[in-house]
Amino acid sequence: MSAIDSLNERTALPVDQLGRPLHDLRISVMDRCNFRCPYCMPESTYGEHFTFLRNDERLSFDEMERLCRLAATLGVSKLRLTGGEPLLRPHLTDLVARLRRLEGINDLALTTNGVLLARHASELRDAGLDRVTVSLDTLDPALFHRMSGNRGALDDVLAGIEAAQAAGFPHGVKLNTVVQRGVNEHTVIDLVERFRGSGVVVRFIEYMDVGNRNDWRPAAVVPSAELVERIHAQWPMRALPPKYAGEVATRYRFEDGAGEIGMISSISQPFCGGCSRARLSSEGMLYTCLFATRGTDLRHSLRDGTSDQALTELLRDVWLRRRDRYSEERAEHHGKAPRKIEMHYIGG
Ligand code: GTP
Ligand code: 5AD
Ligand code: SF4
Ligand code: SF4
Repeated sequence: MSAIDSLNERTALPVDQLGRPLHDLRISVMDRCNFRCPYCMPESTYGEHFTFLRNDERLSFDEMERLCRLAATLGVSKLRLTGGEPLLRPHLTDLVARLRRLEGINDLALTTNGVLLARHASELRDAGLDRVTVSLDTLDPALFHRMSGNRGALDDVLAGIEAAQAAGFPHGVKLNTVVQRGVNEHTVIDLVERFRGSGVVVRFIEYMDVGNRNDWRPAAVVPSAELVERIHAQWPMRALPPKYAGEVATRYRFEDGAGEIGMISSISQPFCGGCSRARLSSEGMLYTCLFATRGTDLRHSLRDGTSDQALTELLRDVWLRRRDRYSEERAEHHGKAPRKIEMHYIGG
C-alpha cells in the first residue's frame, strides 16, 4: 500500500467487515441497579453478596468524555447513556453537559428505569439531554413490583414519565416494554391505551437471550407480529418506512392520528444488517455487539498514557475487524451460545 493509500485509510470513516459504519455509542455509566428484574439481574445472583465494580474500576467522566470525543471523529453522532441504572451514577447531569458540548454529537439520549427520573428530569433537560427512554413492562402495580424483583413502585415510574413529559425534552420520551409470554403479554393493550395520543412512544421488545443468567427460552418470546395483530384489531395502524437504515424499531402509526408505537423484533426479524452500534461497559470494555463474548479493554489504554491518536486507531481497528451478527446467527447456536456479557454491564 502506498503512503497516500495508507493515509486515506486512516482518515476515512471506518466501515466493518460487513460494510456497516459506526454511528452510535451506548455507554453504561453504572453497573448497579435499584431493580432486580428477573430477566436481567435476578435476585438469586445479584443478592446482597454480589460484588459490583469499585468506583475506581468504573470509567470516570473525563475518560468517557475523551472516548466520546474520539469516537465522534470516527462517525459517532448518537450517544446513549445506559446502566444498570444510569441515574444511580452521582452527578450524571455533569456528564450530560460535557457530552452535549462535543462536536459531531447530534443526539444524546438516556435509558432509565424511571424511578429517579422525577427528581432529575428538568436538570437533565437543562444540561442538554435530547431524549429519555423509560423501561416500563406493565401498568399492573402488583405485576410491576414483581417484575422489578420486588424493588420498584409503579407510581414512581409514572411520576418520572410525567416529569419527563413536562420537562419537554427536544426529541421526546419513549417507553421500552419487554413482553414475555405468560408474564405481561396480557397488559400490552392497557399500555397502548394509556399512552396513545400522549406523545409518548411505546416500543414493545421481544424478550431476548441477553446474558447468561435469565432462563430465556424461545417459548417465552411473543413475536411482534402477534402483538401488531392484536393492537391493530383495536386501533388500526399502518407500518411506517424506517427513518434510517438499520433502525432498531419498526414503527406503526395509528390511523386515527393518535401517534405511533414501535416493535423491536430482534428474535423474529433480526436487524443486524444495518447495525451501527458500539457499546462501552462501565469498566471500559468496548463491545461491538449486545451479545458479545469478548471485548476490548479501553480502560487500560486510557490510564497508561496512550495518546489520542493511538486510542483513535485502536477504536478504528476494532470497528474495521467487526463481523458481529448474533441475532441473525441465533438459530445456528441452538441455545448453546458461548458465554455472553451480562446486560447490566453492557446496558441493553
Ligand atoms: P431509538 O434511537 O430511540 O430508536 O433508540 P434505540 O434504537 O437506540 O433503542 P433503545 O436504546 O431504546 O433500545 C431499545 C431496546 O432495543 C434495547 O434495550 C435493546 O433491548 C434493543 N436493542 C437496541 N439495540 C439493539 C441491538 O443492536 N441489537 C439488539 N439485538 N437489540 C437491540
Ligand atoms: N430482552 C429484551 N430486553 C431486555 N431488556 C433487559 N433485558 C432484556 C431482555 N432479556 C431491556 C430493558 C430495558 C433495556 C435497557 O433493555 O427492559 O428497557
Ligand atoms: Fe435494572 Fe434495567 Fe436490568 Fe431491570 S432491566 S435490573 S431496571 S438494568
Ligand atoms: Fe447489532 Fe449484535 Fe444486535 Fe445484531 S445482535 S443488531 S450485531 S448488537
